[in-house]
Amino acid sequence: MTDLKQRLIARIEDQGPLPFDEYQAMCLYDAEEGFFSAAADVRSSYGGDFVTSPEVTAHFGAAIGRYVKGESIRAGTRSQVVEVGAGSGSLTDAMRSEVTGADFYAVESSEVARRQLRELLGSDRVVESIDELPAAQHRITVANELVDNIPVALVIRADEGWVEQRVGWSGNEFGFVHEIPRPDVEEWVERHTPSVPIGSQVEVQLGAQTWLRELIGLSPAGTAVIIDYGGTTEELETRRTTGTLRTYRGHHLGPHPFLDPGRSDITVDVDFSALLDEAAGLGAEAELLRQDDFLSSLGLRDVVSGLRRTELALAREGDVMGQMRVRSERVDVETVLHPRGLGDFRVLIVRW
Ligand SMILES: C[S@@+](CC[C@H](N)C(=O)[O-])C[C@H]1O[C@@H](n2cnc3c(N)ncnc32)[C@H](O)[C@@H]1O
Repeated sequence: MTDLKQRLIARIEDQGPLPFDEYQAMCLYDAEEGFFSAAADVRSSYGGDFVTSPEVTAHFGAAIGRYVKGESIRAGTRSQVVEVGAGSGSLTDAMRSEVTGADFYAVESSEVARRQLRELLGSDRVVESIDELPAAQHRITVANELVDNIPVALVIRADEGWVEQRVGWSGNEFGFVHEIPRPDVEEWVERHTPSVPIGSQVEVQLGAQTWLRELIGLSPAGTAVIIDYGGTTEELETRRTTGTLRTYRGHHLGPHPFLDPGRSDITVDVDFSALLDEAAGLGAEAELLRQDDFLSSLGLRDVVSGLRRTELALAREGDVMGQMRVRSERVDVETVLHPRGLGDFRVLIVRW
């Protein structure tokens, strides 16, 4: 049995069944054995557990960089540009190619990723959490596939009302224990998912809202670009029959989160309506777009057309190797635009 598993059991024996968000936080971020902390390699890479848009093609980061550049010009002051959950740094690296006159920082909870990011940005530009960033008058924050990992509470709509699923230990295995929901958890479901059918499982995303509130509170003005899988509350409703909680490991869906704690990514579909609501409550402007539309507005479909023309020109010249290379580059760009794949991700833009 791993030390993390023993510590989880000890905590349950000591305090009683754990809220799922506490269990998830230990599984992902425990300093010694958490999924993100203990990795020997950066998780978001071809050699890791999942491949993200910036890992597929540098054109993704370059397009986001063009957006960041526009926001920086609009601000009329030197911006601080921060990627939160920067992983290998592939997104930051590609954004930097498009943006001059801004100070780049990375925030990363994983030490192995921070080491890689320090090589890219310098040791004074990489921190572990957003509250460690130096003060900035205008901050542009980009977070790709971060919010889906922020720990969630789990609730089921039962015949008798809402019940919170906590993590218990039977002596042999972890299992869900049903309890009366904590007041803030019940308030969240009543506000965001009051009409889901009996039997629905809802992931309560209070942590994501707290993170957004903290981010907005940390700088007097800024823009956040939050990209992730998920949808509006309405779009998620059909997925709530069984809930969207799942794990990933080695590029595949992983085992139940109770098996091998700390060995798989635990993730959910982001409820963007809740984040829109939070932003509005804080007086920020917010809009929700699809990734394919957002990237198209930043010229990525033109990039595809340009690459197609280059492919044709190389074919005419008989340069088969060159044509294959450009074709592969073009297919990668099409991958991040695919309407039923990465293009179906959502982009939340928040300005304050
Ligand atoms: C799915 S990866 C995405 C990496 C990168 N953004 C990309 O698109 O390739 C999520 C990253 O966020 C980091 N992370 C997760 N929660 C975090 C948090 N609360 N603060 C900072 N980094 C976090 C993880 O260590 C991991 O490197």
